[in-house]
Amino acid sequence: DKPVRVALLGCGVVGTQVARLILEQADDLAARAGAPVELAGIAVRRLGLERDAELPAELFTTDAEALVTRPDVDVVVEVIGGIEPARTLILAALAGGASVVSANKALLAEDGPTLYAAAEAAGRDLYYEAAVAGAIPILRPLRESLAGDKVTRVLGIVNGTTNFILDKMDTSGAGFTEALEEAQALGYAEADPTADVEGFDAAAKAAILASLAFHTRVTAADVHREGIAEVTASDVASARAMGCVVKLLAICALEDGPDGKAVSARVHPAMIPASHPLASVRGAYNAVFVESEAAGQLMFYGPGAGGAPTASAVLGDLVTVARNRIADVRGAGESAYADLPILPMGST
Ligand code: HSE
Repeated sequence: DKPVRVALLGCGVVGTQVARLILEQADDLAARAGAPVELAGIAVRRLGLERDAELPAELFTTDAEALVTRPDVDVVVEVIGGIEPARTLILAALAGGASVVSANKALLAEDGPTLYAAAEAAGRDLYYEAAVAGAIPILRPLRESLAGDKVTRVLGIVNGTTNFILDKMDTSGAGFTEALEEAQALGYAEADPTADVEGFDAAAKAAILASLAFHTRVTAADVHREGIAEVTASDVASARAMGCVVKLLAICALEDGPDGKAVSARVHPAMIPASHPLASVRGAYNAVFVESEAAGQLMFYGPGAGGAPTASAVLGDLVTVARNRIADVRGAGESAYADLPILPMGST
């Protein structure tokens, strides 16, 4: 069988795992995809870093632009993160006829519509399961499994760092700063914890969840956002006294707007009853609770970050995209949009 050739963009914590799994699980991937899945190249910013030694040296290049448009490349897997150069590279890959798998929540949340349009125009796949809640399969269920249902609300604990911090405050009585320091010491929080603590990371994920749940286009700028830096030990203790826990929730809902149905998306600390399934999500885990008209309530739970869990989601997309290429079909498209209006921030 003609192999499916993969270009990997980025070789950090996630990329290294993706490359390793493609090489180590070649037989399983070939069996599941229907043809061998081969690494065509790995684009990195600088050669010679230690991680390169673990992977075949001849795969590495610093010329990402040339790699994504190479005629032998069928699928581009983007795990660089950030807006540029990821956006330019993905657009070049699609224009050149490659399918794309991305883990880039920031880019999908900021400029998803541009990417969807490019994938549509090229007739190629764009999959990004790893962009929200790491290993947890949640985007494909919203996009495909629930496509015949009507989702009414999505509640997500989609940032592991802040869930760890709030959980620590709840179980030990620690203050925010102390809990944050522990999260940093354990390697959950970045040295600059702003994106997690201020809710930017969760807001990007909320935009993606709302877009898929309600078949509309929500960007990060549409999401009302409040982080957890102001949550005090006494807030957490008072919630506890009321039988509640404090969680940073991404809340995406179908609401009654001024002219019919509309979508709202927000991220803020919320008190939830200890009996709610989301209250049991401890430590750095993530969970997404979905309410829909026919299915009722569903919960998706698991690790939301880390190299191997995130690579699991990337590899799942890779197998799907490879199958689609072999069958010469396109997977779940992004064209069937209801174009629901988005309620202005703070109006709900
Ligand atoms: N900083 C994120 C988190 C990583 O803490 O959940 C995954 O996007």
